[in-house]
This record gives sequence, structure tokens and C-alpha cells, in this order.
Amino acid sequence: MDTNIKHIGVFTSGGDSPGMNAALYAISKAAEINNIRLSGIRRGYEGLIDGDFVKLKPNEMQKIVHRGGTVLKTARSSRFLTLEGRKLALDNLLKNKIDALIAIGGDGTFKGLLVFSELCELPFVGIPGTIDNDLAGTDFTLGFDSAVNTAIDNIDKIRDTAESHNRIFLIEVMGRDCGYIAINAGLGVGADAILIPESGQDFVRLLDKIKNYESEDAFIVVVAEGDELGAEITASKIKELNPEVDLRITKLGHVQRGGNPSALDRMLGIRLGAASVTALMNGERNVMAGILDNQLKFTPFDSVVKQHQVNEELYELLKTLNT
Ligand code: F6P
Repeated sequence: MDTNIKHIGVFTSGGDSPGMNAALYAISKAAEINNIRLSGIRRGYEGLIDGDFVKLKPNEMQKIVHRGGTVLKTARSSRFLTLEGRKLALDNLLKNKIDALIAIGGDGTFKGLLVFSELCELPFVGIPGTIDNDLAGTDFTLGFDSAVNTAIDNIDKIRDTAESHNRIFLIEVMGRDCGYIAINAGLGVGADAILIPESGQDFVRLLDKIKNYESEDAFIVVVAEGDELGAEITASKIKELNPEVDLRITKLGHVQRGGNPSALDRMLGIRLGAASVTALMNGERNVMAGILDNQLKFTPFDSVVKQHQVNEELYELLKTLNT
């Protein structure tokens, strides 16, 4: 056990995701139990550069386990991309005598840590926090399950109006480079078609299906925002084929990032939060904590940020169900 760790800094970075507060609670509690000082760093890498450090008290954090967003706030930092920004960040860590860092975020966050490790010798541990589920090294990222539930709730509502008007709806869900939210939400609502960036064939299947579309029914298409055609172009292609169809586009947008975390995301945050403190005490460095096959696993950052492929079985299921 590495008893040199006396003071840990923690921050959330990139897009917020439900479950981040649960992770912060577990980190604060695990640090307290092990007599480790904990400093929260506000606004991700921006706060590291500005020296914006705050205390995280476990008894206060316990009261926000159920809340979405992140109490530490978050940001996408362009200053950290510069060597000057990273040097300022390092100065602040040394000035505050921080021995190790825990970062909760997505691939941009971990890429940032990889570059930072060329300058800073402190150990880093990551927690996968993004609704996109686009990281290797974990079956699920923090916030993904909540985001899919939010998408499903909203698409169910859209179906009511779609069926009442016999309309085609194209519903765009989040997922910058990845179709995980689209596949899970789309299958969960019984969508007629699901368009994802990982597939070149999904639009062909959609056109095939839409030929037989009876204007006496609703037709629900779930489109990942990262899909190569996107909702607008897909809509205009459908219109070209059949100018008479009654069609609407709905973009669910940031509603998917908010709201109370699901039970799964709360537990994921708590498990990974506590594990990240133990990992640092055990001498782990530059790894992300994740859950694979319901087992805690640590994966080096460089393997985590490789292009994450959509689950093969889910992809085959899309084709089997012709969605
Ligand atoms: O955090 C992931 C994500 O929500 C993506 O799904 C989306 O493309 C992006 O962030 C949006 O980022 P921003 O809130 O900075 O516009």
C-alpha cells in the first residue's frame, strides 16, 4: 500500500453525466476513512489552471448522491491544450501539495491526462463519466443508463403524438461518434429504424422499409447525432422519395444529460469512486477504473481512448430485427 498519498485532487471534466455526484461522494468518503485529504477542483482542467480548489465534505456529498450534473462543475478547456496551460496546472498541484489526481470524464479528459503525464509525475486514476458509452475498459460509462432512460421516456411521449397524427418522426439522440444511446433507446422503444455512425447499411434498410410505410401509422426513426447523414439529410431523402409524407424532426439534445441518475449509475459511481481511491493507495497510475463483466478492472488510459467499437452482438441484433 502506497502511504505516500496524503492529499488527492479530484475533478470532473467534459460533458457532465448523471452519477458524477455519486462518484464524488464515494471518493470523499473513502478519502476520509483513509485519512487522506481531498481537494475538489472546480470546472475541470480550467480550475486546475486557475487554482480553483474547494473542500468536499462527505456528509454534504452524501446529500447529493441522487442529483444529476456535477457539484464541482465542468468545462471543456482549450487552455489545457497548450503547454503554458499545463505548466500553470502543474504549478497549482505542487503549490497545494497534491500527491495524486482522480479525473471523472470521457476520452478528451483521459487524452488530456496522457499529455499531462509527460510533464507531471503524479499518479492519475480516471473514472469513465460520459453519457456516450464510448470508452473501452468498461461495459458502461457513468450516465449512459440514465441518458438512455431519459431518451426512452421522451420517445414514448413522441410516439403518442406520432400515432395520433400518423406521422414519421426522426428523433435525434446524443452520441457524438457512437451509436450506443441510439441503439439502446431505439430498440427500447420499438423504433422502426435506427441510424448510427458505425453502420453504412442502416439508411438502405430505412429506405426499404419506408417504401411500405402506410400513412395510417406512425413511423419512428432514432438517429444518433454522429450518424453520417444526420436527421435533416435523412428527412430530405425520405421527402424526395415520397413528398406526401407528414414528417417531423425532434432533437432531444441536452435533456439527455440531466436528471437524477438511475439506480445503475448511482451504484456505478459509488463503486468506481471508492475503487479509484483504493487504486491510488495501491500504487496504480494512469489507469481508468471500469466494470467489465461485473468485475472491477483497471485499464491504461492509452487503451481506453482507442476508438470504441459498438457491441457486435447489438449491431447484429439491429440487422436481425431490421431496424
Ligand atoms: O458528453 C457527451 C456529449 O453529450 C455528446 O453526446 C455530445 O455530442 C456532446 O457531449 C455535446 O457537448 P456540449 O454540451 O459541449 O455541446
